[in-house]
Amino acid sequence: MLKTHSCGELRADHIGQTVTLAGWVNRRRDMGGVIFIDLRDRDGKTQVVVNAGRSQEAFNLAQQVRSEYVLQVTGEVSRRPEGLENPGLDTGDIEVLADSVTVLNPAKTPPFLIDRDEVVDETLRLKFRYLDLRREKMQRNLMIRHRAVKFIRDYLDNRGFIEIETPILFKSTPEGARDYLVPSRVHPGKFYALPQSPQQLKQLLMVAGYERYFQIARCFRDEDLRADRQPEFTQLDMEMSFVERDDILDLIEGLMVGMVKHTSLVPLAHDVFPRLSYREAMDRFGTDRPDIRYGLELVDVSDIAGSSAFKVFAENVAAGHPVKAICVPGAGGYSRKEVGELEDIAKANGAKGLATMALDPETGEMKGFITKFFTVDQLVSLTERLGAKPGDLLLFASDVKHVVYSVLGALRDEMGTRLGLKNTNTLAFCWVIDFPLFEEHLEDGHYAPSHHMFTAPKREQIPLLDTDPGSVLSEQYDLVCNGFEVAGGSIRIHERPLQRKIMELIGFSFEEAMDQFGHMLEAFEYGAPPHGGIAPGIDRLVALMAGEPNIREVMAFPKTAQATDLMSDTPSEVAQKQLNELQIALALRDKPKS
Ligand code: AMO
Repeated sequence: MLKTHSCGELRADHIGQTVTLAGWVNRRRDMGGVIFIDLRDRDGKTQVVVNAGRSQEAFNLAQQVRSEYVLQVTGEVSRRPEGLENPGLDTGDIEVLADSVTVLNPAKTPPFLIDRDEVVDETLRLKFRYLDLRREKMQRNLMIRHRAVKFIRDYLDNRGFIEIETPILFKSTPEGARDYLVPSRVHPGKFYALPQSPQQLKQLLMVAGYERYFQIARCFRDEDLRADRQPEFTQLDMEMSFVERDDILDLIEGLMVGMVKHTSLVPLAHDVFPRLSYREAMDRFGTDRPDIRYGLELVDVSDIAGSSAFKVFAENVAAGHPVKAICVPGAGGYSRKEVGELEDIAKANGAKGLATMALDPETGEMKGFITKFFTVDQLVSLTERLGAKPGDLLLFASDVKHVVYSVLGALRDEMGTRLGLKNTNTLAFCWVIDFPLFEEHLEDGHYAPSHHMFTAPKREQIPLLDTDPGSVLSEQYDLVCNGFEVAGGSIRIHERPLQRKIMELIGFSFEEAMDQFGHMLEAFEYGAPPHGGIAPGIDRLVALMAGEPNIREVMAFPKTAQATDLMSDTPSEVAQKQLNELQIALALRDKPKS
C-alpha cells in the first residue's frame, strides 16, 4: 500500500509514530515558513504541517501543490499545540509533521469547491460527478446506502433467504411503464426488454422450489421522471413460498425497523407500523400513500352539506357523491390571493372551484360566500364535526369520489408544507392493505390491474370476478413512509385458470397471453406453490434515511430528469456500422436533441 493509515484514522494514541498518508489536498494554507495542508480521503481529513525547518525539500514541493492534487506524505504524528486542537475533526488532536511530500498526481482547478457545503448548480455536479462524489455529503449518503444494503443482506441471510441473480436481457414484465428495448444482432428484428422488475422470474424461482429468494435488483422503466423516480433504480426484490400476507408484512417491518435503527440519520416515528385499508387511507388522507406525520384529515360532511341550501353540495349528495372537508388551523385569515392559490391547486386536481369558510379569530363567526346557504344549526354541526376553532379555515370538495380525494389530498399536502407540519426528523411508516384488484377506470374497455396482473384477488371474493370484477379486493400491500410509496407487493396467483381469467379481464387474448406469458402459465401447471413477495425501493428508502429530498442524492451516477447522463453524454448516437450489424434503419420523426 502507498499509505500506512487513512486520513481519518490518526488519534492521540499514534503520537510519536512515523506514518504515511495518501489523499487529496482539501485545502492549503501558506503561513510563510510553514504550509498547512488538510489531506483528505474517504475516511476523513488530517492536518499536515510542512515546515521548511524540518524538510526544505518537502516545503519546496508543498509550495507547488494546489487543491485536489493527490499527495503522499510521510511524517511524524504530533500533538497539536495547546489551544489549536480542532474538536470538529476526528483527527483534531493531532497533526502530521511532514518529512517528505510526493505529488502522485497534479489536478486542474475543479469547477466547484469540494471542501465546502455550498450549493452548486446540479448540472455542473452531474457533469463532474466524480468530483461531486468527493464531497462529504455524497460520501456519507453512499455509505448509508452501503450499510443499508449490507443490513438487508445479513437480515435475510439469517432468515434462510438466498440471493439469486436474474437476467437483465429478458422479456417484457409489465409494471405499468414503457420498456427499454435492446435489439438482438443474432435474431434480427427481435428485441430483449430490460426488466421493469424481476417479477416473473422470482415467481418462477418459487415454482422451482427455492422458497425464500431475494436480490438487490436493478430495474428499468421508461416513465416520466420525478424527484423519487429514475429510469434505472434498485429494488430489494424478494419472494417467499407457503406464506400469507402477514408473514411478509411482519418480516419486512422487522427489516425496516432494524435497518433504520442501524443506518438512518433520521429516526423512526414508531416501531409498529399502522395498517390502513386502502379505503381508510383514501377516506382519511385522500391518497393511497398517506403522510401520517400530521393530521389535517379529510372529514365527511355529506349529511350536513347535502341538507344545506347550497345547490352544488345538495345536488352532488343527491347524486350519491360525497362532500368532504379539511380544517386548517390558523389559516382563517388567509387573503383572497392565498385562497386563490389554494383554489388553483384544487382546479389542477380536477375541482371546478373551491368552497371555503373561515372562522373569525375573535368571535368564531363563520364567514365566506357559502355560509349563507347553511342554517345556524348546520354551521354548528360543521364546526363540531371538523373540530374547528376560531381562526381556522375550512376547505370543501364536492364531486365524484376520486376527484374529492385528489383535490383534498393535494390541499392537505400543500397545507402540511405551508404550516411546517412535515417533521423532517422523523420517518413515519404505515402499511396500506386491501387494495382493489383493478383500477376504478377501464382502459380501452378493459380492467387495468391496480398493482400488476400477478396479484391474487382475495380468495373469498374470486366468485365476484364473474359478476362484479370492479368490486374485488386484492392481496396487494404497499409500504408508505412520509407520503412516499417505499415498497409494493402482493400474494400472487399460483393457479393457471385464475391467472388466465385475470389476463382476459385485462384484455389479453389467449394468443397474446400465451405469446407474452406462456412460460408463466405453463409453469403454473407444474406444481406452483402458494407464494407472495414485495419489493422495497432502495433509492427511496436511502433518500429518506439520509434526509434527502431527491433520490439522485443517494445514487452514484443518476440520470437527469430528461433521462440523460451529463458526464458521459448518454444516450448518444451509435456508429452506422453498429446499426448495420443490427439491421436497424432509423426513421426519425423528431429531430435528435443536441
Ligand atoms: P412496484 O412497481 O410497486 O412493484 O415497485 C416497487 C418499489 O420500487 C420503487 N420504484 C422506484 N424507485 C425509483 N424510481 C422508479 N422509477 C421506481 N419505480 C418503482 C418504489 C416502489 O414501491 N414487482 C413489483 C413488486 C412485487 O410485487 O413484489 C414491483 O416492482 O419504492
